[in-house]
Formats: sequence, C-alpha cells, structure tokens
Amino acid sequence: MHLIIKKGEALKQKTPCLVLGVIEGKLKEPLLQQLDKLVAENVTRAVRSKEFSGRKGESLLLHGGTGLTAERVLLIGLGKERSLSLDSLRQAASSSARLLAEKQLGSFLLALPQVPVKKSTLSERIQVIAEGTLLADYRYDRYLPKNKPGQPVALEKVSLLIAAKESSKEAENAVAAAQSICAGVCFARDLVNEPGNRKSPEYLAMSAISMAEKVGITTRLLRREQMAKQGFGALLGVAQGSEREPYLIVLEYRGGTPEQKPIALVGKGVVFDAGGISLKPAEKMDEMKMDMAGGAAVLGVMQAAAGLKLPVNLVGVVPTVENMPSGTAIRPGDILTSLSGKTIEVLNTDAEGRLILADALTYVGRYQPRVVIDLATLTGACIIALGNHAAAVLGNHDGLIRQLLKAGERSGERLWQLPLWEDYAAQLKSDFADIKNIGGRPAGTITAAAFLQQFAGKFTWAHLDIAGMAWEEKGKPGQPKGGTGFGVRVLVEYLRGAAK
Ligand code: BES
Ligand code: MN
Ligand code: ZN
Repeated sequence: MHLIIKKGEALKQKTPCLVLGVIEGKLKEPLLQQLDKLVAENVTRAVRSKEFSGRKGESLLLHGGTGLTAERVLLIGLGKERSLSLDSLRQAASSSARLLAEKQLGSFLLALPQVPVKKSTLSERIQVIAEGTLLADYRYDRYLPKNKPGQPVALEKVSLLIAAKESSKEAENAVAAAQSICAGVCFARDLVNEPGNRKSPEYLAMSAISMAEKVGITTRLLRREQMAKQGFGALLGVAQGSEREPYLIVLEYRGGTPEQKPIALVGKGVVFDAGGISLKPAEKMDEMKMDMAGGAAVLGVMQAAAGLKLPVNLVGVVPTVENMPSGTAIRPGDILTSLSGKTIEVLNTDAEGRLILADALTYVGRYQPRVVIDLATLTGACIIALGNHAAAVLGNHDGLIRQLLKAGERSGERLWQLPLWEDYAAQLKSDFADIKNIGGRPAGTITAAAFLQQFAGKFTWAHLDIAGMAWEEKGKPGQPKGGTGFGVRVLVEYLRGAAK
C-alpha cells in the first residue's frame, strides 16, 4: 500500500472517495455545510432521518454527483468532542479503511489529519492515522483461497490530507514511523496466527533470524545442549515433554552508544500450551497456539526499533518451547533447578510460562541491563481481572511503571497496574524447594508476577501480562480475528521516550 501526503482543500480533491471525520453533534461546521450544498443536501437529509449524527463508529457514504470533485464522500463518526483523542483518529482511520475495502475501494483520501485533537502535533495525528490504515489492511490468508469474491480488497493508494501551512516533511516522517511500527505489529500477528503444526520453537527461531538479517540486527540461538550445560533447568523441564527442540533466541540491536547499558526485553515463547500433564480442557485449546505472543511482540519491537533507528541499545530474549503431555514430560511434584540456582517445585505443569521466563530473566542479567521488561500471556486470571481491554503491568520500580502506563495511554495499547506487595510472595512458599510454581486461586496474576520477581534480581523490572490482549476473538475494524501484535506499539512508544 502507498501512503501519500497531500496538501490542499478537502472539497477540491479528485479521489474515488474523500473521508471526513465528524464530531458527534457538530454538523453545522462550515466544511460540512459547504459539502452539503455540493451533494444536494443529502447530509442534512441523512441527519434529519437519524441515519448519521457523528457517533463513534457511525458512517455515511454518499456519491458526489456533479457538484463534488471527489467521486464519493464518506463521513465517519468520531464521537463526542470531549472524548476525542489520538486513538479516536486511529479507530476512525481503521473503520474507514475497512469499510471502503469491503466496498472494493482500495484508493481514497483521508481528510482526518485536520481533526482538532487537543494538545496533539501533526506528526502524532499522522502517525495514528497511518497506523489505523496499515493495521486495517492486515490479513492472515496464507491458507485461504486467493481472490474469493466479496473479500475486502487490499488497499492500494491512501492519501492523507494536510493543510497548506503544515510541513510535508514532518508528515512524511510520521508516515515512515508508522510503517516501521506496523511492520513490527504485523510480523508479530503473523507469528501468533501461524498454527501449532507449522510453528515449532525452531520455526520461531528461524523467523527471528530471517527478520534480524533483513533489518540488520544480530541473532544468537542457544540450543538444548548449550542450555543444559549452562543449567537452564526450568526451561528444559518444560521442554522435555515435547518432541520439538527448545531454543533461547537472543537478538541484539545497538542504536545507542557502545557504553550505554541495554534495555532487555523478554517474551514468553510457548508455541503451544497444552498444559502438559496438568492438561488443559479441550474447549478453546486451539487458542493456545497464541502462547508465544509475548515473544512475538519482542521480535516485533526489535524489528520496529531497527526500522526507526532508535538511539538505544536493546537485547531481546525469547525462550521458546512447546508444553505437551507425554511420557517424558515433567510431573506435578517434580523439582527443577533453575539457571539462578533456585529450586522450583512444579505443582502444576500448566504454569509453564513462569518457568521458562525465570531462566530467561536470569540469563539477561549477564547484559547488565538498565531496565528489564517481560511480556507474557501468563495467566487466565488476568482475563478475569481486566478482560480484553488492558494488559496488566506489575514491577519493582514505580518510575518504570509510570512510564509504561503513559506509553500505554499514548499508543492506544492500554496497561493497568496491579500491586506487587511483598505479602503475595508468601503464597509461593514450598515445603520441598525454594519456591513453588503456583500460588493458589487468589490473585493469580499477581502471584505469577511475584514468582518472576524472584528471578528478576536487583534489576529495574516490569512485567506485562498480555493474556487478555494477545488474541482478538471476534474481530473489529483495525483488527481481524486472531493475533493482535499487542505490546509492539506500547513498547516502541516507551522506547522512543526512553531514547530521549
Ligand atoms: N498460557 C496460559 C495462560 C493463558 C490462559 C493465556 C488463557 C491466555 C488465555 C498459562 O500458561 C496458564 O496455563 N496459566 C495457568 C496458571 C495456573 C495453572 C496457575 C492459568 O492461568 O490457568
Ligand atoms: Mn499454561
Ligand atoms: Zn502458557
């Protein structure tokens, strides 16, 4: 898809479709009045008959007739003025793009950049509009027939209209940033959507390598023998139930100065989570191919960071395994010796994410990171707590959490903090080892984080539980059913702030 910056007046543009954003109830704006005249007062008629009022998600498609230079005009509702935000623009761009693609229109012009979002800059508005458009164009159709009639068309040429006095250069840079970010998001989505039969830990490792080669960052893989020699007992414990070889994927991006300590990102890479001997119920088990979404997000962030040439040093670590029940699988009651030396009593083999993350967190210690952030589809309890509207953030450093919350707000990938008071650690006391891997029913998301905290050592650390955000069940405009790529946008936003 080509994303192009155009300058000029909205009503004088030649395009298959002009898209205008309308704030709820604000139908007397001069531009709309002018438009109304050009389309034989069809806007007025639609408003009067209550077909359109500017409510969020509402749309009205009109043909231009003789008065308008554009062949069509699409009015898209932005919702109430007081709740107007950058995310409303992103969603408006997604809804418009989706709607027009369904109508087989792959080229159009978005006059959204002029929408007056309070305290926003031109580059912020362009970035979110470009993101909304790019993400609406995403689909995962590898295993579907090509050119099925009635399918939405792929977008071809989308123009973004800015005012004469605004800077094209600034707008073009913002488009380029959105392209780098969305390439990372879509890479993550593809990996999450890939079915379990095709997606071995090795597949994930090879995908990481080929992405890294493309964007020019370095990769290293630790294989089973190397991990065994070094003592990755927790990770290898999970891996031993599967025929598939586990890997530790390590990516390094160096955009900062050589002496700058890196930020480490760690992502859970369970390519399929059957639960192990503590087998999961059959219902929805198919969704457990998404249990590597944290790892996918880390890979997506690394790709985006390289594309954006962020001036930071990053280490991305993805421990990847498959969690299967078998004759060689770990059993409830087994005790594993982790890379840190701590012993772990495994009371539920379905609490496997924290086991592989424990070793990965210990491993990143050797990079002396200034910050460690891990992402994981870690607990079903997180979906009970926050549903599908925010990821949980927990950690040992208030400043870091504050920055992440802010990045969440700005990127439209919302986070919500849960407490991590010392009291919760008591739930993890084991009778036979240093720690056990489950803390009982109460506060499942917090005790999982409390477990990880034991392995994050003294580092400034935060944990994102993305269990409710990694997979979209129904599908919506910027987001078809399936993998969301959640985590890429919020972390890129955080890193752009940290790089300043
Ligand atoms: N991958 C799951 C968590 C999950 C569940 C993610 C649903 C997304 C959707 C994780 O490995 C798991 O099984 N967690 C257990 C932990 C429990 C055994 C302490 C859970 O949440 O039930
Ligand atoms: Mn599990
Ligand atoms: Zn899992």
